[in-house]
Amino acid sequence: MMNKKIRWGILGTGRIAQKFASDLKYIEDAELHAVASRSKTNAAIFAQLYPAALQYDDYHTLAKDPQTDIIYVATPHGLHFEHVMLCLQHGKAVLCEKAFAVNSSQTKSMIAAAKEQKVFLMEALWSKFTPQWQKMTDIIHSGQLGEIKNVIINFGFVPQPPVAERLFSPALGGGTLLDIGVYNVFYALSALGKPDYIDARMTPASTGIDEQCAVLFRYNSGAMAQLFSSYCTHLATEADISGSKGRLRLTHRFYTPDSTLEFYPGRADSKVIVPVEQTEGFGYHYEARHAGDCLRKGLTESPVMTHADTVLLMETMDEIRRKAGIQYPADTK
Ligand SMILES: NC(=O)c1ccc[n+]([C@@H]2O[C@H](COP(=O)([O-])OP(=O)(O)OC[C@H]3O[C@@H](n4cnc5c(N)ncnc54)[C@H](OP(=O)(O)O)[C@@H]3O)[C@@H](O)[C@H]2O)c1
Repeated sequence: MMNKKIRWGILGTGRIAQKFASDLKYIEDAELHAVASRSKTNAAIFAQLYPAALQYDDYHTLAKDPQTDIIYVATPHGLHFEHVMLCLQHGKAVLCEKAFAVNSSQTKSMIAAAKEQKVFLMEALWSKFTPQWQKMTDIIHSGQLGEIKNVIINFGFVPQPPVAERLFSPALGGGTLLDIGVYNVFYALSALGKPDYIDARMTPASTGIDEQCAVLFRYNSGAMAQLFSSYCTHLATEADISGSKGRLRLTHRFYTPDSTLEFYPGRADSKVIVPVEQTEGFGYHYEARHAGDCLRKGLTESPVMTHADTVLLMETMDEIRRKAGIQYPADTK
């Protein structure tokens, strides 16, 4: 695999699969090799927009394809367990969209299967690979914020027609926490670590999934994080990470390369814009390039987005769900 392009397969042809496919062109040593859809028509339309040598009208054939090096699983998170296991059973490396699974029990089984098969498996928490993330962590580690005392993050939008079924379907893992709150939780964990206490409340949609979810992390150090996700209001979708010496604000779409980093060494009028390099495309090529590099090195786990990161994230969301009363059919299987 060292001297050739990494051949990607994409499983599922929805919205994020299209953005990911579009960003693969920014990686010199990678190519979109195969795409699989449940429907022949959708596979053909996708491959016309994003040229792929092979098109399959079922996921199983992609999982078995000997020419594909790694499969990007881009189906609704309620189906990640089934689809990732399918790929792993055929010895395929996998990059799986967030939320990685519905719960930590599924997550641990997926990781165990990858270890058993000795194949690469990583959660596609793309934010962790962007220049914005790098700057954010540099600033936190430099001590410019002092001791971090609080994290306040909100993420909200009103889904517009045609509303994807996955957003409100319990079977597909619907709800704000797993879909968008996952970013809030991940940023808070990254800035403050595992919380000592978690509290959470939610408002259910008519299908029972969380239409809004409010989360509070508390730490023995006195630090706190307040996280809010919503499908019924357009929110600022910003993050504030504040310490004894300063505050870092990640502006609108804080989890993407669209976000601007504002550093406030003092009061609200002390803003300094942090320079960050421009991103080509949507920014999904950073994680894809990293996954390819891991394959070339023969790694089965990313040193950046580790299995432990994914397990901590899912266990934290399990606890939030327990406190808020968010349940899925997969929890009882
Ligand atoms: N990283 C990010 O920025 C980002 C952004 C959005 C979403 N995501 C994640 O990516 C995943 C997919 O989200 P999406 O917005 O792309 O969803 P989507 O537009 O609904 O697409 C999901 C695709 O999954 C396949 N699928 C298989 N079984 C399905 C079923 N029973 N119902 C619906 N679709 C089914 C379909 O592809 P075929 O018909 O071709 O089989 C469908 O097009 C989710 O886990 C989500 O959290 C990540």
